[in-house]
Amino acid sequence: MCGIVGYTGDKQAQPILFNCLKRLEYRGYDSCGVAVAVGGIELYKDAVRIEALAKASPKFKGTTGIGHTRWATHGAPSRDNAHPILDCTGKIAVVHNGVISNFQELRDQLTGEGHNFASETDTEVIPHLIEKYYDGSLEEAVTAALNDINGSYAIIVLAADKSELVVAKKDSPLIIGLGDRENYIASDVPAILDYTDRVIYLEDGDIGVVTKNDVKIRRDGKEIAREEHKVMWTVEEAQKAGYEHFFLKEIHEQPKVIRNTLGEFTRETEQAVDLVGIGGRGMESILMVACGTAYHAALTGKYIADELLRVPVRVEIASEFNYYSHTLARTVAIAVTQSGETADTLKAMRKLKEAGCRVVAITNVVGSTASRIADQTIYTRAGPEISVAASKTFIAQLMVLYWLIMSYSKADARRLANLLMELRQLPSKVQQILDNEAEIIEHARYLSKYENVFFIGRGINLPVAQEGALKLKELSYIHAEGYAAGETKHGPFALLGGNTPVIAIVAKDNTYDAMLTNIKEIKARGSPLIALAEEGNEAIEELADSVIAIPQVDAIFSPVVNTVALQLLAYYTAKERGCPIDFPRNLAKSVTVE
Ligand code: AGP
Repeated sequence: MCGIVGYTGDKQAQPILFNCLKRLEYRGYDSCGVAVAVGGIELYKDAVRIEALAKASPKFKGTTGIGHTRWATHGAPSRDNAHPILDCTGKIAVVHNGVISNFQELRDQLTGEGHNFASETDTEVIPHLIEKYYDGSLEEAVTAALNDINGSYAIIVLAADKSELVVAKKDSPLIIGLGDRENYIASDVPAILDYTDRVIYLEDGDIGVVTKNDVKIRRDGKEIAREEHKVMWTVEEAQKAGYEHFFLKEIHEQPKVIRNTLGEFTRETEQAVDLVGIGGRGMESILMVACGTAYHAALTGKYIADELLRVPVRVEIASEFNYYSHTLARTVAIAVTQSGETADTLKAMRKLKEAGCRVVAITNVVGSTASRIADQTIYTRAGPEISVAASKTFIAQLMVLYWLIMSYSKADARRLANLLMELRQLPSKVQQILDNEAEIIEHARYLSKYENVFFIGRGINLPVAQEGALKLKELSYIHAEGYAAGETKHGPFALLGGNTPVIAIVAKDNTYDAMLTNIKEIKARGSPLIALAEEGNEAIEELADSVIAIPQVDAIFSPVVNTVALQLLAYYTAKERGCPIDFPRNLAKSVTVE
């Protein structure tokens, strides 16, 4: 999942391309490049970050150009495998996000026809095919080339001596930013926010020709119009606002994000999501599909639903769900995905729709592919999340699930009224944890010297243990596992000892006594133990080596406050270890390939 950009207008393209790429770096950052049409094609690329490339690149004069920041799929990060990729003549340049599944076959065929390949990428078949079919019209050559191609792609094509860009999209996101006598093309909205808030979202199968004065889109050869949308996000929201890292900024935005997301619902209750009578009439079960952090949010939703909805809820990892064969009658399917572009989740959504399920998407990105596949979309109002590691979108997803499930709950009215009151107090509880950051920094300093860590939890805090472990893994590169506390005796105990700290998440609910027993068992085997527990809990303070004090909340809301504390712990541990927090190695913000 790479980031691709394009510009055509009156201004010098190169500085604009660098700036747009910088805003998309969270999509992949192992190599990058730009190309500008100045008579011929001027191109500079390398296996470096964008800032370094912008410093090293010769200055190109030209007002039409393309750029790319890469997350390698085919061919290791290198200058040759970086994009833009040229054809044999050097007159056609392509940037691509996606995977060409039949590239080897096409490569062999083109090699047989005399084409010389300079990279190991799947992408390189595209410029060679365009070269093969080129007969004066770049658009027609691109259309012909795409007829030979299988797989997923968002592409921008630049040709020497042309001030037009040809774009096409299938299963990878692509937008056009509309300007005055200039137009922008990008994989995602944050890239163009410095220049315009007017965008067009391309659909699968669209092929477009973009010039400075015009955007023409064709589908199956016929010209079509795509609706223009106004982006609600501001450029400031996509910046660090004085924080050292986007991840820390996004953690600190969570009280506001909770208010914004809940605020949205109190205004929208009349339009409650049409779950077609879940909990008695019509639909008999809920199935949630997601990946990574979104999966942990869905899993937490399962526990909330179990307590308040009493309807069977299944939660599946999307990539695994895609191998299941059984069909699902009378099921409401909820896909949770912050980016709305995760390939495995989109595939599961399409499969669920084919199976006749009603599909609801919970996503953070307006206009994303998930919002277009779904029958109904609920937006989290978290604003753009730039750091590769998710934080505020997780909490916003929980807010959606609390609201959704409480809206349909048949639980005791007084209980629901108390929960609603507590839900509204959550921003201040989260703020308490943020204000207590210094204490968490101490724990992080301690944790930063270990290479293996267990997170344990029970019930609604099992997904929290898994999320805490995921954050520590992706940010600090410490090998961490989130484990059901009750399961630890069935194997993981073998790893306990002085070099394996355990972080125990203790909630004041029906899991409390069992967690205390687990803590004693773990201490007996010599592992250092940090407990997350309500402030002033003497029993825990006595047992644990140290305690991260958590403000008192109803146990059903404990995942919110516990996760924020674990996000800070992961951040400061990674900082202590000098890790590249916003751009962890080998990762990308949205995984648009299977
Ligand atoms: C989380 O920090 C990771 N970035 C990753 O696990 C992420 O949650 C996963 O790729 C799902 O992304 P989505 O919510 O955009 O679908």
